[in-house]
Amino acid sequence: MATKAESYPVLYQQACALAEKEDDAIALMANLAALLHESMHFLWTGWYRVRGYELVLGPFQGQLACTRIPFGKGVCGTAWKEQATQVVPDVELFPRHIACSSESKSEIVVPVMRGGEVTAVLDIDSERPGTFDDVDREWLERIASLVGGLS
Ligand code: SME
Repeated sequence: MATKAESYPVLYQQACALAEKEDDAIALMANLAALLHESMHFLWTGWYRVRGYELVLGPFQGQLACTRIPFGKGVCGTAWKEQATQVVPDVELFPRHIACSSESKSEIVVPVMRGGEVTAVLDIDSERPGTFDDVDREWLERIASLVGGLS
């Protein structure tokens, strides 16, 4: 089985090919969620979009999820507030974590930036603790940036 350091460059090429063919943010988010989820076998893979003072659920793959997350709340709202990727090895140790699924044990949230503002976040959950590291951070930031210029 390929390591993630081997898988992500291939995934990124596929993501770039999708981004070249689609300039609608929702359509591209939908296919990127499917690509990541199917390839990496995550528990939940999806996007939340900034709408006013909340994040609102966007395209995703996985179980039903919370639809709205306030600024600064949860891992997602923290990534928005701090404008920085959040890597959470154990969600139970993250004080502001919002549990959408009891199966989620670790999480990464990557902000999507446009003109110095966060416009959305990419949120990924794993059923295993400690799934995400700097390899995920590097490649998921690249993939998330593909939707940064779109609306
Ligand atoms: N755990 C997230 C909420 C979204 S679900 O994981 C899909 C958070 O703490 O922001």
